[in-house]
Amino acid sequence: MACSMKQAGSVRESAPKRAKQLYELRRPVFLIGFMGAGKSTVARRLARSCGVSSLDLDTYIERECGKKIREVFADEGEAAFRRMEAHALGEVAAMDAAMLVSCGGGIVTTDESRQALQKLGFTVLLKVDADEAASRISDKSTRPLFQDLESARQLCEDRAPLYEQAAAATIDTRGKDVYRITRELRSLLEEEGVLCRI
Ligand code: S3P
Repeated sequence: MACSMKQAGSVRESAPKRAKQLYELRRPVFLIGFMGAGKSTVARRLARSCGVSSLDLDTYIERECGKKIREVFADEGEAAFRRMEAHALGEVAAMDAAMLVSCGGGIVTTDESRQALQKLGFTVLLKVDADEAASRISDKSTRPLFQDLESARQLCEDRAPLYEQAAAATIDTRGKDVYRITRELRSLLEEEGVLCRI
């Protein structure tokens, strides 16, 4: 791989902070879904309010290989990025403290990562459609695979069965704001016994 990843360091995106009630995660939680589903924002918000850690997998990859995601795509191509993504997922899942991990929208496109999502943690699909996603994404230049609405609609449709296959649970985010999605995720994780009060 041209852009080799360093060994995992201390890369917590959001360390526990000022939560009123402290919780712990019993296993890693992976948020998946199409670009614009709100995965990173929701992971960060929920982590802060519960006093657990969150990590954005794209940010982790960027830090580990010293390049922006769009540069990785441009220089090395999508297949190389998918290998980095699978490798990063394995590293993050193996970390001592379980975290809320927001994953890139295309992580479900490889068998290896789909299997890892099923085995290594509790995976939640934040469902969105391409039209609503487009209205949520302010800067498309950071997303090489979200350029025009027509192809995004097709990609979203093509990936739908892969998301369903990888996820243990789904939250439909359509028409909902980030506060509501975060509340729904929190309830779901508590009901599933993945997020517990300490
Ligand atoms: C991708 C989604 C992006 C990022 C990369 C590829 C995809 O992450 O991983 O641009 O294939 O859907 P977000 O879903 O966080 O935008």
